[in-house]
Amino acid sequence: MKEIKKIVVTGGLGFIGFNLVEKFLKEKYEVLIIDSMISGTKNKIIGRKNLKVFDIDISEKKDIKNIIDSCDLVIHLAAKGNVVESVQEPIENFNQNVFTTIQLLEILKDSEKCKKIIFSSTGGALMGDTPPPVNEKSCPNPISPYGASKLACEGYINAYSNCYGLNSIVFRFGNVYGPNGSHKKGVVNKFIRNSINDIEHIIYGSPNSSRDYIHVYDICEAILLGIEYFSKMEKNYELFHLANFEEVTLAKLIETIYKVSKKKNSYKILDYRKGEVLRNFCSFEKANNLLKFNPKYNLQKGIEDLYFWILENEFC
Ligand SMILES: NC(=O)c1ccc[n+]([C@@H]2O[C@H](COP(=O)([O-])OP(=O)(O)OC[C@H]3O[C@@H](n4cnc5c(N)ncnc54)[C@H](O)[C@@H]3O)[C@@H](O)[C@H]2O)c1
Repeated sequence: MKEIKKIVVTGGLGFIGFNLVEKFLKEKYEVLIIDSMISGTKNKIIGRKNLKVFDIDISEKKDIKNIIDSCDLVIHLAAKGNVVESVQEPIENFNQNVFTTIQLLEILKDSEKCKKIIFSSTGGALMGDTPPPVNEKSCPNPISPYGASKLACEGYINAYSNCYGLNSIVFRFGNVYGPNGSHKKGVVNKFIRNSINDIEHIIYGSPNSSRDYIHVYDICEAILLGIEYFSKMEKNYELFHLANFEEVTLAKLIETIYKVSKKKNSYKILDYRKGEVLRNFCSFEKANNLLKFNPKYNLQKGIEDLYFWILENEFC
């Protein structure tokens, strides 16, 4: 018998949330989504069996308390995830990411039933210019308000777990890409759209700037493994990097898209944007050891699938 049956997903209409909720429904979980629909897509998911969607901002503590109290676990994805915007509006970013997370933790602290949380952190922005490869023992050094907000959330989650008996898993995602992210403006989606439209790519900083890309289906798989892991967890707080342990430069990303599209796009280089990390890639050894996590998608396969998904879903 599953110990966890009913799950709240904050931000469940967003890119990762949508893919994750699909997976949960297939696995027969009952799912409640809380999403104010500021960036996610109101789409196909609404009206499905075992799913309720609440159009509520997570800062509305009174409104979300009853929803959370009825569940066994919160997957907390709702956040403002844009580094450049966070540099422009740091206070807004703090309120949206940190303050809302503390409010959520307050609800878990007082809840009789719901004491478990999985939190979506970042393995890139939070590490800043810490030389890669990074892992759970590396020293975080955020260089943007967004990165700082995720580090602050991790700190509060650890503190609430220690002081108020919560069980928490923090996942630091690499750069997530994959289907159902039509509202996303990250570099993978942008470069694929440029390729389809024959538009010049824009690179901020350097073509040698790198990220560790991870497919959204691998992230969803890891979160399922995390849910199973709660029953074996010896500590009340655990932290994992989820990535591919592969440094992919922008030049390599462009080359990978070219292999699928067979179209060569030119690119121009503009100034580096403040707050953005220059290089990043992460080890997933701890997740592999404790969760048996093993990413299945390599970049070539993931980009190929996404290229055709974007072509079919955004251009037809
Ligand atoms: N996508 C990535 O590459 C990546 C990498 C590292 C970490 N993360 C983290 O993973 C999480 C999900 O990312 P995503 O790419 O799916 O983002 P997304 O923007 O697609 O989804 C976020 C969802 O949260 C909702 N939301 C935002 N603020 C809210 C609020 N106050 N109340 C209720 N709903 C709210 C939005 O409407 C949206 O549907 C975020 O916390 C992000 O910081 C993402």
